[in-house]
Amino acid sequence: MNRKTVFVCLLAVGLQAMAQTPVYLDESKPVEQRIEDALKRMTLPEKIAVIHAQSKFSSAGVKRLGFPDFWTDDGPHGVRPDVLWDEWEQAGQTNDSCVAFPALTCLAATWNPEMSALYGHALGEEALYRGKDMILGPGVNIYRTPLGGRNFEYMGEDPYLASRMVVPYIQQMQKLGVASCVKHYCLNNDEEYRHQVNVIVSDRALHEIYLPAFHAAITEAGAWAIMGAYNLYKNEHNCHNSITLNKILKKDWKFDGVVVSDWGGAHETDQAVKNGLDMEFGSWTNGLTEGASNAYESYHLAKPYERAIQEGRYTTAELDDKVRRVLRLFYRTTMNRQRPYGFLCSESHYETARRVAGEGIVLLQNQGGLLPIRSDAKRILVVGENAIKMMTVGGGSSSLKAQHEISPLDGLRQRLGNQVQVDYARGYVGDATGSYNGVTTGQNLNDNRSADQLIAEAVEKAAGADYVILFGGLNKSDYQDCEGHDRKNMDLPYEQDRLVEALAAATKRLVYVNISGNAVTMPWKSKVPAIVQGWFIGSEAGHALAAVLTGDVNPSGKLPFTWPASLQDVGAHALDTYPGTWRADKKVIDEEYKEGIYVGYRWVDKQKTRPTFAFGHGLSYTTFKIANLRADRTQMTSDGQITFTVNVTNTGSCDGAEVVQLYVSDLKSSVDRPLKELKAFQKVHLRAGESKDVALTIDKRALSFWDETTSDWKAEPGQFQALVGNASDNLPCKIKFTLQ
Ligand code: BGC
Repeated sequence: MNRKTVFVCLLAVGLQAMAQTPVYLDESKPVEQRIEDALKRMTLPEKIAVIHAQSKFSSAGVKRLGFPDFWTDDGPHGVRPDVLWDEWEQAGQTNDSCVAFPALTCLAATWNPEMSALYGHALGEEALYRGKDMILGPGVNIYRTPLGGRNFEYMGEDPYLASRMVVPYIQQMQKLGVASCVKHYCLNNDEEYRHQVNVIVSDRALHEIYLPAFHAAITEAGAWAIMGAYNLYKNEHNCHNSITLNKILKKDWKFDGVVVSDWGGAHETDQAVKNGLDMEFGSWTNGLTEGASNAYESYHLAKPYERAIQEGRYTTAELDDKVRRVLRLFYRTTMNRQRPYGFLCSESHYETARRVAGEGIVLLQNQGGLLPIRSDAKRILVVGENAIKMMTVGGGSSSLKAQHEISPLDGLRQRLGNQVQVDYARGYVGDATGSYNGVTTGQNLNDNRSADQLIAEAVEKAAGADYVILFGGLNKSDYQDCEGHDRKNMDLPYEQDRLVEALAAATKRLVYVNISGNAVTMPWKSKVPAIVQGWFIGSEAGHALAAVLTGDVNPSGKLPFTWPASLQDVGAHALDTYPGTWRADKKVIDEEYKEGIYVGYRWVDKQKTRPTFAFGHGLSYTTFKIANLRADRTQMTSDGQITFTVNVTNTGSCDGAEVVQLYVSDLKSSVDRPLKELKAFQKVHLRAGESKDVALTIDKRALSFWDETTSDWKAEPGQFQALVGNASDNLPCKIKFTLQ
């Protein structure tokens, strides 16, 4: 080879090498290798840029290297409309009218993980269309008190139910390359003083009640992001908390994703650096008013952190860990070239919304079989502001700009209008306004009549109606199921109790449909034959409610929380723990969860109180018989399982679905244990007359408690009992077994 040929060869090799894809862009290389390669190439300012917001809902990519900016949005019931770069006001887009899916309380009430999978998939598709790489949701904070302002955004009181329901939502969304940011981790169980509450809770309650759904979201569903909560635990804010983030989440659960601060939940650079926060969002900015350049750069994890590194106060160890996590998030989302197309407002999304709602609406009471509406009905009177008020606007950050929202009144008219006269009376005036961050409902609900006049009109119109259907409840305005505040009491607002009593006295054919995410007191329960829990169900509310009321859909929803008769029947209130005690400096309020593990039905069982409706309760238009409980063995080995089989028969005259629920009771224990705990369930669809066996399997984990002496789960050998039925207060089948 002469020198000229050698030169040409070398040039060719060199050019080829130059043309070779760098490792961080090479899709054939393992992601971890690509992350390391990208990290090596990034400058300090580039690293700093990716760990904090650059606008209300976005953070920077690394443009020089080809990583696009990262966009996130609320969550959890639909994709929030776009706001301005640096303001909460609407950006005025025309492509951000979405499908509003049912609130997560309704999803939990389906007791059907398949509904959760459909939900996550549909929402993920909407997010993709809207260019969102991460959805801020779902939320799995435990329902501890019916006053909780954001209970409607969560999945109820039971850690096992919430765990089973949260996993498919996340899995299906992430399959589309959209990250799910599960929130609010952790102990954000009420809204009042959410930035100041310091929760004091036993390790047992923390691990047995408040963490399992987050644990399932991280370890089973593999959530790529988690949002720190506003409140404090052990005197540290949860957005930078050495125990909940560094120890539990990252060390014990081996979380490899990103910890995102709740908006404005980061408070200080040193803690943000050391205590687990990876991406800072929503901290106060003086944005447009005082110069945009100043705003995001002043974040705790922005210039202050960069300067501290330059001055040698930190090495880049913490920074590199954060950046690796963020890069991993990029590869899972924005850098995933296989991401499918998104769709907005597809028919399949509306169908998902209808199906979830249809399975989540709960028939609480149905005396004399008043429902479903008979086909020979001639005149129906619909009463109540909630029959006409748009509910997708309001409630805080979960507020949406829905492409359409069918009201209950419109839903009933569309379904029955041809054969039935559907009249309307307002009944009460609640909140006549309707706007959130610049999205307005456009409804004019002003009505200056007095409560007496409104009630009198409803009573008058009720005369002779075949059905009077009152849509009442709460409405997502401040203090009525809304972020930022809790409810002030458990009662129905706006003099609705008076209205219900008056209508109950006027007709025997009263149906009360409660729209809320929370339990309300029902002093008139025995006087109202039919009661339905209608949740906040979004775009398809009217269609779904009409389908259930007319029997097109046979209700199969079950309460995901206990419906107490009064606040005194709730541990948190009976023990006077809420909202806590202010410290002398008035900066922190200590809220001690004195009821410990006795939340919801666990408290009811312990105190032997009778709730208005029990956890897991929900009726159907047909009847079911659950019988013949068997076990494949009566002794469980420590690494074994037991499968229980029970027979379910639809003994009524229409098709329907029942949720078979299995609770476990530890008959003798060295520690105090709840009387029973939900450990398995399954929804089963049965045609009229049909009978099926349902199998439910448990393992040692279902028998375990959190042992505070060893900081681990422990199952003590001995006798247990499985209780099976269709509600926490109706478990007719029992079988004993032992753990060896
Ligand atoms: C809420 C979060 C929400 C965030 C962004 C906060 O106030 O607590 O749930 O995701 O705002 O809108």
